Amino acid sequence: MTANAFVAVFGGAPEGVWAAPGRVNLIGEHTDYNDGLVLPFALPNTILAAVARRTDGRLRLHSSAAPGAVVELTVGDLKPGRGDGWADYPSGVVWALREAGHAVGGADIHYDSTVPTGAGLSSSAALEVVTALALGDLHGLALERPVLAELCRRAENLYAGAPTGIMDQTASACCTEGHALHLDIRDGAQRLVPCDLAAAGLRLLVVDTRVEHDHSTGAYGARRAGCEAGAAALGVRTLREVPFDGLAAALDRLPDEHARRLVRHVVTENRRVEQVLALLDAGKIHEIGAVLTAGHASLRDDFQVSCPELDLVVDTANEAGALGARMTGGGFGGSAIVLAEARRADTVAEAVTDAFRSAGHRAPRIFAAAPSAGARRLR
Ligand code: GLA
Repeated sequence: MTANAFVAVFGGAPEGVWAAPGRVNLIGEHTDYNDGLVLPFALPNTILAAVARRTDGRLRLHSSAAPGAVVELTVGDLKPGRGDGWADYPSGVVWALREAGHAVGGADIHYDSTVPTGAGLSSSAALEVVTALALGDLHGLALERPVLAELCRRAENLYAGAPTGIMDQTASACCTEGHALHLDIRDGAQRLVPCDLAAAGLRLLVVDTRVEHDHSTGAYGARRAGCEAGAAALGVRTLREVPFDGLAAALDRLPDEHARRLVRHVVTENRRVEQVLALLDAGKIHEIGAVLTAGHASLRDDFQVSCPELDLVVDTANEAGALGARMTGGGFGGSAIVLAEARRADTVAEAVTDAFRSAGHRAPRIFAAAPSAGARRLR
């Protein structure tokens, strides 16, 4: 389908088709840019790219989300801050590859996506990763996945101007089916953690509140800057250097309540990642729900990146019998995850939909997601 659409838009045939998934994060939020711990898994939802190289240095980008509107750029003209809308993500990847010394030229690319945009499910990372993987393969660059993820982060931070961490690009590039990916950002260590929800009789629901967020706007960057200021006040390089058992002493040394809240969230969130990991490793997957809900409370009350719709999902799901729930991703809208016993999942989903209707919110989009494959070549 994606190859056919490429032919319809560009005339010739693509050289191949690649896929990269969106992600949810099980736990470990706003920890990545603090050198902390995260535990995302890949969604079944992907962005597909059909790609053919060009020899004239032109980059032509087309998305089925904007049919007929081909974005045409010249590779040699790419520079940060151009403001080409969605095309900034793939053209930022071309820019980052070239900045890293790779001789990447022009290309025609057609994209199809089943990753909702603006939903906190990392559609921008999927767009970056699928582009980098395709161009890396076609140019024989043999990029290791963590290196590819880092190039994509540079595209997002420096070219598209969103000051995010590395979690989303790494999840899209490095996850595998049936596993969550434990990533320790401080040393880059990765571990695939078996996470078979169905075998445990569980279902994970993704609830897209349809409140759109955008991390290139100020609130995300303000949290990041607040964390960096907190680390500076404590005389450490990053908040990762604050151990959980040193938290009370660290809080005493901070100048104000705002700084204390940010630091408390990050330090306790790293601890929650360790708790969830220990439970998964012990086969006690049912017991992670309470930790997820505690993580939501911390994001809502201390880090203050939730919103009424996300809180409504979490409260309603838990009242309706879920094992736990939390917002996932950067927040300020976007999606929540809900962990429920499979036999209760439909009831929980209905309760959330009803609560949104009663509150006068737009109907949420709810779907079940199992840990899925990372980025790959399809043909
Ligand atoms: C967004 C960013 C990530 C991470 C999360 C919050 O998804 O892209 O790098 O900071 O927010 O955990």
